[in-house]
Amino acid sequence: MAPVHAACALLSLAPLLVLGVPPIWTQPEQVHLSYPGVPGSMVVTWTTFNKTETKVEYGLLGGRLFEMSAKGDRNSSTTVGSDDGWSDMFTFTALNDSTSFSPRFALYGDLGNENPQSLARLQKETQLGMYDVILHIVTPNPTLTQRSELSRPTTAAVQNIAVFLPLINFSNYRNRFSMPGQTESLWYSWNLGSAHFVSISTEVYFYLEYGQELLFKQYEWLKKDLEEANKPENRAVRPWIITMGHRPMYCSDDDQDDCTKFDSYVRLGRNDTKPPAPGLEDLFYRYGVDLELWAHEHTYERLWPVYGDKVCNGSKEQPYVNPKAPVHIITGSAGCRERTDRFNPNPKDWSAFRSTDYGYTRMQLVNATHIYLEQISDDQYGKVIDSIYGGKG
Ligand SMILES: *[C@@H]1O[C@H](CO)[C@@H](O)[C@H](O)[C@H]1NC(C)=O
Ligand SMILES: *[C@@H]1O[C@H](CO)[C@@H](O)[C@H](O)[C@H]1NC(C)=O
Ligand SMILES: *[C@@H]1O[C@H](CO)[C@@H](O)[C@H](O)[C@H]1NC(C)=O
Ligand SMILES: *[C@@H]1O[C@H](CO)[C@@H](O)[C@H](O)[C@H]1NC(C)=O
Ligand SMILES: *[C@@H]1O[C@H](CO)[C@@H](O)[C@H](O)[C@H]1NC(C)=O
Ligand SMILES: *[C@@H]1O[C@H](CO)[C@@H](O)[C@H](O)[C@H]1NC(C)=O
Ligand SMILES: *[C@@H]1O[C@H](CO)[C@@H](O)[C@H](O)[C@H]1NC(C)=O
Repeated sequence: MAPVHAACALLSLAPLLVLGVPPIWTQPEQVHLSYPGVPGSMVVTWTTFNKTETKVEYGLLGGRLFEMSAKGDRNSSTTVGSDDGWSDMFTFTALNDSTSFSPRFALYGDLGNENPQSLARLQKETQLGMYDVILHIVTPNPTLTQRSELSRPTTAAVQNIAVFLPLINFSNYRNRFSMPGQTESLWYSWNLGSAHFVSISTEVYFYLEYGQELLFKQYEWLKKDLEEANKPENRAVRPWIITMGHRPMYCSDDDQDDCTKFDSYVRLGRNDTKPPAPGLEDLFYRYGVDLELWAHEHTYERLWPVYGDKVCNGSKEQPYVNPKAPVHIITGSAGCRERTDRFNPNPKDWSAFRSTDYGYTRMQLVNATHIYLEQISDDQYGKVIDSIYGGKG
């Protein structure tokens, strides 16, 4: 991993970069960018089979090619690039850190390297410049290796843009780069445009064998982070609070997952830990989280604003204008080995729209008062099958 700074200070310029390496064992692959949450910086991560040097060469668009370089950190025996040759050349546009910037996102979960149904479409739209950021609501599952999750096709599609990969291999988290202001990169927050984003691990509610203390640590961090973000002076600058987590607390699938249960661990916590572990619903409600993005279920589902299993519409006519509780979107149907899930035929009142089509979600954070989301069906050749405007103020 090589943090690339300097180049990104000029936000509208696109730094060019290449990565070291040829013979197959040292050829970099799975190149991707991630935004560490620090304006004017970008992190480049890649993989090689054999140990080599770690180097990125780059320059500004319009400037001399490769006039700058950065050396990085290598973390495990199978990662990183070198100076034995070079990767393809990539370009990217650094993120605009103005609070009036209106970022456009593609978001999805559960896009695997087998059956990555939505990939071609996402890749094309990315190349057409339709997105500023991809939010990959990744499967942080101990049974997945870093290689299977960070698969070639996935990263090929997203390598020109900022990819957020909060967690790959749960037991491998110490070897992931650290997000700023936060422990071990299991959970972190960052700002973009008029929103404060919070990324959390829901796996801490399920894999207690990896450390029950993580669950409590995350909760304490989350509480502080949301409390801060919800302060009037911070809300005035970034009125939106958006959370991302892998496993939802509500869903109407028929697969017996946690979200299908009234007593969802993620929603209400666990009482088989000592002390009992608090869930997330109350916390998110208390600090006025606006939007909660989830995946894991291999379907798309949009909820009416909900708290305590009850619908809390802004008004009957405009449920998403000044909603009285957070809005949940579950978008886990990008395409993976397990194919899409099925729905329970009798959804609860909070279920507003659902689809088993393969697809992904587009989101635009328009401004301080407007947010727009739409769902794309890959099965229906890119048709927009659902859309909402959310508003406040
Ligand atoms: C890659 O590593 C393997 C295992 O350590 C070694 O046998 C092989 O010679 C290395 N290949 C190159 C090109 O360095
Ligand atoms: C991994 O890289 C980080 C820096 O990003 C470093 O602090 C850490 O010690 C490295 N871990 C190992 C096991 O090399
Ligand atoms: C960043 O976004 C703001 C608001 O849209 C815009 O005024 C500004 O020109 C942008 N900055 C760059 C460097 O593109
Ligand atoms: C996850 O990462 C750990 C630490 O690097 C490694 O020992 C383990 O084998 C990985 N898990 C799987 C399933 O590959
Ligand atoms: C403990 O949690 C289980 C499952 O979430 C729930 O059914 C039970 O009512 C809870 N017990 C208490 C005492 O809260
Ligand atoms: C919430 O709003 C939707 C859309 O207007 C409506 O269908 C639903 O009945 C409302 N639910 C409640 C509890 O008001
Ligand atoms: C925010 O965007 C909406 C939709 O484009 C527009 O109607 C509204 O005037 C904008 N508000 C501000 C404060 O710019």
